[in-house]
Amino acid sequence: MKNVFVALAILTCQSLSGLAIAEEDYESARWNPLHFKPAINSATNEDCLACHQEIINRTVKSQSPAGVKAADSLAWYQTLSLYEGEQDTFHRRHLVTPLAKEFMNLQCNTCHQGHDPREEAPNPPTATDAGFTLRKTVNPETTCLKCHGKMNYQMMGLPAPWEKSKNMFQTCMACHVAIRTVRHQVNYLNADNIETAAQKNPDVCYGCHGGRAWYRVAYPYPRHAWPGASPQTPDWAKHRPTESEPRFRLNEKTAAK
Ligand code: HEC
Ligand code: HEC
Ligand code: HEC
Ligand code: HEC
Ligand code: HEC
Repeated sequence: MKNVFVALAILTCQSLSGLAIAEEDYESARWNPLHFKPAINSATNEDCLACHQEIINRTVKSQSPAGVKAADSLAWYQTLSLYEGEQDTFHRRHLVTPLAKEFMNLQCNTCHQGHDPREEAPNPPTATDAGFTLRKTVNPETTCLKCHGKMNYQMMGLPAPWEKSKNMFQTCMACHVAIRTVRHQVNYLNADNIETAAQKNPDVCYGCHGGRAWYRVAYPYPRHAWPGASPQTPDWAKHRPTESEPRFRLNEKTAAK
């Protein structure tokens, strides 16, 4: 009799096994070493998507619970020529939209660099930057700001912000066909596609260099030497790196990240 109960219990457990395993696995999945350094450095998108497919599959609701239609509530930047298609999620806009695929090759670990979940915030709290990126493990200063910072028009010698000085120069290429021509040699950008597209639509460059500026500051880009550059380094550039961060360099995919 006892054995029958055990057998029944096992059967019941098995029918609930989805739940039981999900619950047991949740913690080990959450603490999966792929989330943290050093494993995250070499994780592929497929590794992450094995558990996080929802990041790609999830789309925005076509209508809010109160009945506001997504298609009718566009932000100003969503009305520009560079914005295509219906409203979409943050991750899809960076990973799967046609524009994202044409210009970018972002990986999960381009943005998610891992952290120690036990060390999420400095203790005791401090007002100075203690080097913590908090829960979501994405540091905007070394990711977002590169493509969503302000255009540093003063440094470029432009008389006014691009919206005003655009008429004078027409396209960024007026200068950038010869200035800072060694650009975008990083594993998360498709450099050739960017240059080709910019020949047809000059707004392409502005799209990542001021056109979608969610920040009030400009990113201090590395300053690669380019053919024809003056050997003198201007004062503003004295403390700039002369190469992209190692983990993004094209020829150093295997270098320490
Ligand atoms: C074995 C399954 C698994 C793998 C592989 C995995 N994750 Fe997770 N991840 C989880 C689970 C489970 C959670 C917790 C989700 C929750 O609590 O809602 C989580 C949480 C997260 C969070 C949210 C963290 C927070 O504090 O809110 C991020 C970001 C994340 N994962 C990114 C990644 C990235 C990037 C990769 C690949 C390098 C990855 N995950 C690989 C299962 C996984
Ligand atoms: C452009 C940078 C960027 C890329 C690329 C990126 N993420 Fe994220 N991800 C973020 C940011 C920023 C957040 C925090 C969003 C928030 O706080 O709501 C986030 C949040 C998450 C979360 C937790 C919250 C949620 O929205 O469910 C998971 C899980 C996650 N990302 C997984 C991934 C995976 C897997 C990939 C690769 C397929 C990926 N991310 C690629 C920037 C990025
Ligand atoms: C390598 C360049 C690049 C990086 C890094 C980057 N973005 Fe973007 N972002 C883009 C491009 C390009 C688009 C437009 C994509 C499109 O229209 O399909 C975009 C679009 C967006 C949008 C508009 C989404 C929408 O549907 O309206 C938001 C918000 C955004 N990015 C926030 C961020 C944040 C936050 C980060 C850092 C975690 C980040 N981006 C990192 C290039 C980048
Ligand atoms: C009148 C000429 C001119 C025009 C037009 C121009 N730039 Fe520049 N740009 C420069 C100069 C000069 C520099 C700095 C060169 C140096 O490093 O000595 C520069 C630097 C840059 C940098 C690097 C900034 C940094 O902090 O290192 C970016 C990015 C850039 N330009 C993007 C653009 C984009 C995008 C456009 C069009 C929307 C544009 N520029 C239009 C002259 C111009
Ligand atoms: C998809 C986003 C994106 C687009 C589109 C884009 N850029 Fe960039 N640009 C970046 C990022 C990210 C960097 C920093 C790369 C690095 O760290 O080396 C950068 C760096 C630069 C730099 C600094 C070069 C140096 O010395 O390393 C210049 C100049 C520049 N871009 C000009 C342009 C011009 C001109 C165009 C149009 C032909 C353009 N960008 C289009 C994202 C973009």
